[in-house]
Amino acid sequence: MDPLIKPFFSLLLFFSSTLLFGEINGVEGSNQHHQYHDHLYGPKKLFVFGDSYADTGNIKKSHAVSWRVPYGITFPGKPSGRFSDGRVSTDFLARLMRIKSPIPYLWKDYAGNKRLRYGMNFAYGGTGVFNTQSSSPNMTIQINLFEHLLGDDLYSPSDLSSSLALVSVAGNDYSNYLTLSRSIAELPAFIKQVVDQTEVNLRRIHAFGVEKIAVPSLQPLGCLPLYASLQGCNDTFNALVNYHNTLLQQVVAKLNNETNHSTFIIFDFYNAFLTIFKTKGENSGGSRRFETPLKPCCEGSCAHVDDKGEKKYRLCDDPKSAFFWDGLHPTQQGWESVYSVLGKNLTASLIKP
Ligand SMILES: *[C@@H]1O[C@H](CO)[C@@H](O)[C@H](O)[C@H]1NC(C)=O
Ligand SMILES: *[C@@H]1O[C@H](CO)[C@@H](O)[C@H](O)[C@H]1NC(C)=O
Ligand SMILES: *[C@@H]1O[C@H](CO)[C@@H](O)[C@H](O)[C@H]1NC(C)=O
Ligand SMILES: *[C@@H]1O[C@H](CO)[C@@H](O)[C@H](O)[C@H]1NC(C)=O
Ligand SMILES: *[C@@H]1O[C@H](CO)[C@@H](O)[C@H](O)[C@H]1NC(C)=O
Repeated sequence: MDPLIKPFFSLLLFFSSTLLFGEINGVEGSNQHHQYHDHLYGPKKLFVFGDSYADTGNIKKSHAVSWRVPYGITFPGKPSGRFSDGRVSTDFLARLMRIKSPIPYLWKDYAGNKRLRYGMNFAYGGTGVFNTQSSSPNMTIQINLFEHLLGDDLYSPSDLSSSLALVSVAGNDYSNYLTLSRSIAELPAFIKQVVDQTEVNLRRIHAFGVEKIAVPSLQPLGCLPLYASLQGCNDTFNALVNYHNTLLQQVVAKLNNETNHSTFIIFDFYNAFLTIFKTKGENSGGSRRFETPLKPCCEGSCAHVDDKGEKKYRLCDDPKSAFFWDGLHPTQQGWESVYSVLGKNLTASLIKP
């Protein structure tokens, strides 16, 4: 799950203003869609920690496929550092909160205070709660970055108490573990370590004064195109994911009992993904149908070309017809379906005290 490619020196500016404004306009456009709905008395800012499911541009341009064509072809129309053809999880959560997608940490000095008021995104593609083969900051370091900002008084205690944190871990710890060909038999013990460290992370974020913290359950890794086969999902892998999710639920229940509030909420990505695979997306309210939900739109070595410039990948005709963009990541349409399946539950849990 490591998105890194061989680093090469690049003088391209990663904070190109057209890109920034492209993003702002895009998300604003989608917000207008909701402007006559009831106001959601929920959190006002979003702070995001995690990996490529949540990253909206923190990795440097020279380092990741997310900055290469055809990533970003749907939104904003060119590569933007998102691991998708368009918007990712963070963008849809921000849309639900009626705010703009929080600025990537890397761009904070170029953003202006107006933009900072929506929170900040510290997620880096390829990372885990422990160090993976990605050179990007693990979750502990991401939380450190947040802590340092708080020292700068950029966000007040009342800002934090009316904020939502998204703590999104999509499995890089496990793919890294398997890449290093450690034994499957010992994976359950490692899963326990990952969830224990997640608990440490959740406690830290809460201790800063953030009063709403969302943790997605781990999506069915055995169904990602990279791990699924012609026969379908890898049930062995999914059983391990279930173990992770059971432990995560226990941790969240324990933490909520301690705080006496629904401070910590689980976004049930696991069941949302499975529901979409089963129904081919027809339940998710949109007119879209995913004929072959486990087949990615960008097949092969997405975004890679050989020495002669020949593409090492094949692109589907319409990214909106695919749930997965590449071997690991949903398309924008895929994410839209996930949030649509979570729907009212998610909105209700965000405003519950
Ligand atoms: C996160 O990364 C830092 C720097 O590499 C390392 O010191 C720390 O142990 C890592 N945290 C965890 C929980 O692995
Ligand atoms: C399923 O995943 C496990 C763990 O990654 C792997 O060892 C096994 O070979 C996979 N099974 C199939 C049928 O691909
Ligand atoms: C919450 O924690 C208290 C004290 O440890 C315990 O007595 C109680 O049973 C717990 N409640 C739940 C719902 O787990
Ligand atoms: C939670 O409620 C229990 C029992 O009502 C109380 O003793 C405890 O101090 C409360 N904890 C917090 C963090 O408010
Ligand atoms: C929504 O919440 C209900 C009640 O808690 C639960 O039974 C249902 O599975 C949830 N649906 C989703 C998609 O999370």
